Amino acid sequence: MEIKKIGVVGAGTMGNGIALVAAQIGCDVVMRDIKDEFVQRGMKAINGFLSKSVEKGKLEAAKKDEILGHVTGTTDMSLMKDVDYVIEVVVEDLNLKKSVFKELDEICRPEVVIASNTSSMSITEIAASTKRPDKICGMHFFNPVPIMRLVEVIRGHLTSEETAMTAMNLAKKMGKIPVDVKKDSPGFIVNRIMLPHLLEAIKIVEEGIASIADVDIAVKNGLNYPMGPFELMDLSGIDIAYFVTEYFFKEMNKELKWVCPTMLKNMIRAGRLGRKTNGGWYDYSK
Ligand SMILES: NC(=O)c1ccc[n+]([C@@H]2O[C@H](COP(=O)([O-])OP(=O)(O)OC[C@H]3O[C@@H](n4cnc5c(N)ncnc54)[C@H](O)[C@@H]3O)[C@@H](O)[C@H]2O)c1
Repeated sequence: MEIKKIGVVGAGTMGNGIALVAAQIGCDVVMRDIKDEFVQRGMKAINGFLSKSVEKGKLEAAKKDEILGHVTGTTDMSLMKDVDYVIEVVVEDLNLKKSVFKELDEICRPEVVIASNTSSMSITEIAASTKRPDKICGMHFFNPVPIMRLVEVIRGHLTSEETAMTAMNLAKKMGKIPVDVKKDSPGFIVNRIMLPHLLEAIKIVEEGIASIADVDIAVKNGLNYPMGPFELMDLSGIDIAYFVTEYFFKEMNKELKWVCPTMLKNMIRAGRLGRKTNGGWYDYSK
């Protein structure tokens, strides 16, 4: 089936980025969130990215309007009834994802592939909430979506070869570099490697070995990473680091190395989730 219309469920940081790259390849996009203000925030982010591209001379103004014209923002889930492919991008909560997949399974045509942008969670378990587990896969984009090229395509236990290939080909069409994650395992490739690095950074600060700023300076200049671990958590959302840590602890037989540091828990309790709340490990209010 040719993919002409894509459903994106969730209009947050990742959802609006995915809607944008889908519109850029000429697909019509239905971007759904639960409240109109969230839909509008997502539309504003897409508009903002495209306006900057026009200002920088990377995009013609007419092309911007054409791309925007492909995106319909909505709170109405029933509009997913005639999309050819869906990418779920709601918050990293397994029960929420399962309920969203159950709802989508009832609305979408039976042949439609439904992919999850989960950062860590079991595609097999998400797929079990539907009657089409062979048509469910992970499609893990990275932040910021229009710029980062990797997409991890994750095969759940029952994902068919055809579904995995459909996701790989769609990622390529979007100009991305897909990798084939052959087994469904917490954090897939990148987050399995990255999470220990984030947790060690927090422990170094908790133990009083160095400040947040100095850990970031050390990692950027000693490992040549483009961002330090604290800057990265602020960009991607500290809540995501927290949810992924809790999920790893549960899934990896409660190994001590995955215990959530108190400092990380306190950031969540204080509502300091990073750039999206104007404050996380650093302050962005000014
Ligand atoms: N932020 C990152 O750097 C990053 C990177 C890769 C993957 N992810 C994953 O992408 C997903 C979304 O992350 P995010 O950073 O965009 O989160 P976010 O908090 O910015 O956005 C999530 C959006 O989902 C919406 N939502 C909640 N329930 C919904 C429903 N039933 N239907 C439609 N929308 C609903 C929320 O209102 C919110 O706007 C998570 O699974 C996360 O782990 C995030």
